[in-house]
Amino acid sequence: MRTQVAIVGGGPAGLMLGRLLELRGIESVILEARDRGYVQQRVRAGVLEQATMDLMDEVGLGERMHAEGLVHEGVELRFAGESHRIALKELTGRAITIYGQQEVVKDLIGARLASGLPLYFEVSDVEVDVAGRVAFTHQDERHVLEADVIAGCDGFHGVCRPAIADVLTVYEREYPFGWMGILAEAAPSSDELIYAHHERGFALASLRSPRITRMYLQCEPGEEPWEDEAIWDELDRRFGMAVNRGPIFEKGVTPMRSFVVEPMQHERLFLAGDAAHIVPPTGAKGLNTAMADVYLLAHALEAFYQGDGSGLEAYSRVALERVWRVQHFSWWMTAMLHRFGSDDDFGLKLQLSQLRFTTTSVAQATALAENYAGMPFRATW
Ligand code: APR
Ligand code: PHB
Repeated sequence: MRTQVAIVGGGPAGLMLGRLLELRGIESVILEARDRGYVQQRVRAGVLEQATMDLMDEVGLGERMHAEGLVHEGVELRFAGESHRIALKELTGRAITIYGQQEVVKDLIGARLASGLPLYFEVSDVEVDVAGRVAFTHQDERHVLEADVIAGCDGFHGVCRPAIADVLTVYEREYPFGWMGILAEAAPSSDELIYAHHERGFALASLRSPRITRMYLQCEPGEEPWEDEAIWDELDRRFGMAVNRGPIFEKGVTPMRSFVVEPMQHERLFLAGDAAHIVPPTGAKGLNTAMADVYLLAHALEAFYQGDGSGLEAYSRVALERVWRVQHFSWWMTAMLHRFGSDDDFGLKLQLSQLRFTTTSVAQATALAENYAGMPFRATW
């Protein structure tokens, strides 16, 4: 088998890259380890930056997002018993849209299958080599795919990053807490997202629709999810209000880490999305950063097939500039909002000072808004 770009991983990064290449007349094959139902149901992030929304429009897949997604022009910071709104749109001209990552994935898979282009689910024993060969098993048959370029879009637990581990430098930070997340059949308790700082720990109120609430509580990293009642009681405490309750139909604990590898490319293998970097979810940046990577990579590949390899050469350097901006922002939000141990009263005072400054200084609020609504995607190098 031969193709121009072998895409390992059919998450948001791999699928969007496939779509961007399709629109540029560049061939690709997408290999995904899981089945279609699994990737479409997997509950992940839900905040699209302005640039991700614009990208969905650009690739002709914005229709359902506009019909079902909820545009938010601000977010709330809650601390010391007070609420403060950060007016994203007013401060930056940009907004965010609440639209589940799995909805983006459904739209992209639908388009890929409708175009008849190769997307193999349930592949196993994937092996990549940096000369451009990918071996894999599909329906009990072993195949070898030869490509000009391999796009490693196979997430944090994939095989692409380990294949070039020898040439990578890892930058990493683990946080001493996790997030306990729930999805519940209940109307959201607020029109906009609430990021709440509290002595007992951070809490986040989000949503998926006018009937579905998504909420998170800071917890111990490896903790088992609590009983429903205990979760609701703790949410009430940390938000300082009685939140709307309803049947919880999904709960889980997510670890929190920051992680980056450099470079994001070796020979013919290019890493994108979670395969190359992870952020703690406090800034809602994971999905959006994956989109920024593949946007750049698609433009670099387009130039490559027009005879100009400079974009591919610059890919890692240019992508990492944005990746580190996002890393800093996610770390900063995480550090400002979470409790780092009950005896750290000095840290607590610094957080409250930072929160007050952020919500009273227009310059500081704008800095938060600019990062949160998201830096533009870059396609120049
Ligand atoms: N071969 C093929 N596919 C693989 C392999 C493999 N060896 N290993 C993993 N995969 C698949 C996973 O099943 C998954 O569908 O690669 C895909 C990677 O998708 P994601 O983990 O979603 O990563 P990415 O596309 O980079 O999306 C960015 O942002 O919101 C965050 O973490 C969240 O998933 C989100 C990410
Ligand atoms: C979510 O809705 O899942 C969500 C929202 C904001 C975040 C993280 C997750 O910062």
